[in-house]
Amino acid sequence: MTVRSVVCGVGHYLPERVVPNAEFEAIVETSDEWIRSRTGIETRHFAAEGQTTSDLAIRAAQAALDAGGFTPADIDAVVVATSTPDLTFPSTATMVQAGLGMAQGFAFDLQAVCAGFVYALTTADALIVAGRARRVLVIGAETFSRLLDWNDRATCVLFGDGAGALVLEAQEGTGTTADRGILSADLHSDGRFRDILYADGGPSTGETGHVRMHGREVFRHAVEKLAQTAHTALEQAGLGPQDIDWIVPHQANLRIIAATAQRMQVPMERVILTVAEHGNTSAASIPLALSIGVARGQIRPGDLVVTEAIGGGLAWGSVVLRW
Ligand code: UT7
Repeated sequence: MTVRSVVCGVGHYLPERVVPNAEFEAIVETSDEWIRSRTGIETRHFAAEGQTTSDLAIRAAQAALDAGGFTPADIDAVVVATSTPDLTFPSTATMVQAGLGMAQGFAFDLQAVCAGFVYALTTADALIVAGRARRVLVIGAETFSRLLDWNDRATCVLFGDGAGALVLEAQEGTGTTADRGILSADLHSDGRFRDILYADGGPSTGETGHVRMHGREVFRHAVEKLAQTAHTALEQAGLGPQDIDWIVPHQANLRIIAATAQRMQVPMERVILTVAEHGNTSAASIPLALSIGVARGQIRPGDLVVTEAIGGGLAWGSVVLRW
């Protein structure tokens, strides 16, 4: 018998406030035209004052539970991928656990920045396959607006806040690629590149810090590494580009998404795009795109979905799953 981690519910939450590119024209020397043409971003959502990452995560988690017909009592573990926790500790995941009214199971955060959700999916799958948990709530949630330097036009226009969640459940599979659930994963990191994308704060500095990025360098790595990791994950599953129904990429930059799809030989019609409306929501971007892809009627049961992401670390990876 092959145990598969199958998606049995997906949901998301976006804070109410929508911020169009034009708002940045009053803050830094930029233009709607520059932001659109260089990134594909048109608007993003920002959390309200006092609204925390766990607040967004709880709303997304509740939506995923509802979609799957589950209650919090059905869940064995909560994994939150985030780089913007409410506090240094305890984990945002324990805040979500309490917020959902769960007293059972275990909860922890996972930090791999923009690659956080592919790392979290892979970790949750490992817990399920090892028999440590039967149902895992996997969440990507961020309030990146709290890490932005409003004087740095090269970064402040790029990011947004939001959360997405899914319920992974252990189900019996046949061991073939026809199975629903996670079929393969490929993860990497390379700390030699830690200086090209980082936040210049944390417990060692006494401040939260701001995002610092050498955009052009990150762009170069992204285009090279994303197609490669997706190819490796597909190959591991015994599949090829022709089998892909949807690429669900990390939504950082439309040009990176398009270049990656081209390298993967997949037309843009088979790519889920949310970057225009959300900007880069770091670990939340893939679960947000999955949830919206389902809501739009694009992703359907049985579809082969390839997720891929890269971010600070550098950390990157890809997960192949059948919806
Ligand atoms: O999620 C984690 C992964 N992160 C990413 O994947 C981000 C990867 N990088 C990128 O998406 C792109 O590099 C950016 C969107 C950040 C920048 O686009 P670019 O085409 O690489 O532009 P650039 O950094 O080479 O800058 C081009 C010019 C520069 O001016 P000069 O030096 O040519 O005079 C910048 O100062 O654009 C300028 N610039 C801006 N101009 C107007 C940078 N930011 C802005 C801005 N508005 N907001």
